[in-house]
Amino acid sequence: MDATLPILYLVASITFITGLKLLGSPKSARVGNLIAAGGMTVAIFGTMFLAKGHDGQPLHNLEWITGALVVGTAIGWVMAMRVQMTAMPQMVSFFNGMGGACAALISVMEYQAVGEAGMSFGGGLATVAGLVIGSVSFSGSIIAFLKLEGRLGDIRFGGQQFVNNALLLGVLALGGAIVGSYLGGLNMVLLLTAAALLFGILFVLPIGGADMPVVISLLNSFTGVAAACGGFLYDNMVMLIGGILVGSAGTILTIVMTRAMNRSLANVLFTNFGGDAAGGGGGGAGGSVRELSAADAAVMMAYARQVVIVPGYGLAVAQAQHVCKQLEKELQEKGVTVKYAIHPVAGRMPGHMNVLLAEADVEYDKLVEMEEINPEMPNTDVSIVVGANDVVNPAAKTDTSSPIYGMPIIDVENSKQVIILKRSMKSGYAGIENELFYRPNCAMLFGDAKDSLTKLVNEVKNL
Ligand code: TAP
Repeated sequence: MDATLPILYLVASITFITGLKLLGSPKSARVGNLIAAGGMTVAIFGTMFLAKGHDGQPLHNLEWITGALVVGTAIGWVMAMRVQMTAMPQMVSFFNGMGGACAALISVMEYQAVGEAGMSFGGGLATVAGLVIGSVSFSGSIIAFLKLEGRLGDIRFGGQQFVNNALLLGVLALGGAIVGSYLGGLNMVLLLTAAALLFGILFVLPIGGADMPVVISLLNSFTGVAAACGGFLYDNMVMLIGGILVGSAGTILTIVMTRAMNRSLANVLFTNFGGDAAGGGGGGAGGSVRELSAADAAVMMAYARQVVIVPGYGLAVAQAQHVCKQLEKELQEKGVTVKYAIHPVAGRMPGHMNVLLAEADVEYDKLVEMEEINPEMPNTDVSIVVGANDVVNPAAKTDTSSPIYGMPIIDVENSKQVIILKRSMKSGYAGIENELFYRPNCAMLFGDAKDSLTKLVNEVKNL
């Protein structure tokens, strides 16, 4: 037996693991990504030119495969080059959906190629699992994409949970019947695909703003598992390993995100996904808001002992990360200790703030996780909230009717003074008011975050 292909697969698998490890830090993430992409290229070309099909012959249709590769690479390249940093979460969701669709298509093709009669129980199970999970991941990711784009709101109707659970049971029953050969034929497989696609749509539709991070990571793990099923079907080690890595990384991320939202996975999956649509006025927001000038804010910060910067989605929208770093530098030159408080779901994708700040060369040890920064808040003179809203909303702690109730937040209200940089009094992703803005120790500096930070940098410089 020729060992070249297994060796290439082994090399590719090692690059995936190394890449994943390097993705753990913003400093090494770029290299990690390139290494894993290199391994994927080796795996693809190895498969194209050295793998054998079911008939024991080298792969045919190479011209079609090459054509698809060229078109796919060109589309991916253009999308990645053009994408705005703020649209990255949508793009990741879209690409994740494409992975799910591929896994589902593999299952349909394999079912046709091998035929029911030729399929073992394990093969049937992998085919159906890949089909169902891949389809759910595809349609769910497209709905998540539309929601992140702001083109689709949360859609809820009476008895929705019942309909979803019934549909899920139906999908499992039909899938089980196909695996057990009680039902069969391409029509049944297509019916199963349609039902799984519908379930993917219905299961993501009601998810409220605050719970989106959980569903995004869950869909990510689904795609990995679906790809692993494909690897099992083709007896392709590298696909199996790649799928398992994505599936397990996505599962770990899901657990991290459910913890960040303070929900159990079972609660997220079967009961309260999305929370209460109508709930959450924001804990009785009202009263008057205090506005502050950049000059006054600069004085407060320049004479502080410790300033904590809390970045949020608005930092990404304004692309203000570089100016933010400049402010950090100016304050440090004045002897102020500056730290960044990182909330796990700040922004629109896991690690969003870390990526943004790493781009501006903010030192990694200045980024402090929520659990570690919160006890420091009472000793913090000034918290400066840059385009964050939901992740500092005290309603999460006090208002049981709020859709973000139970989510741990960055306790900026415990610092001596809070300065909030945003353009208006508008709400954040969860669509709820923020009572923090009316607190006596809070003041608003209205304007685009980049403009406001630039003014602050100039004012601090002149002090
Ligand atoms: P948000 O609650 O979405 O608030 C962002 C705030 O930034 C808005 O209130 C907006 O107010 C302000 N803003 C927007 N553009 C700005 C600009 N150019 N300059 C200054 N301010 C600007 O953000 P967050 O606190 O980071 O919370 C994240 C939310 O997204 C959570 O609800 C989370 O559950 C959800 N989510 C997270 C993820 C992941 S994985 N991180 C994924 C999906 C959803 P103005 O319009 O008044 O300026």
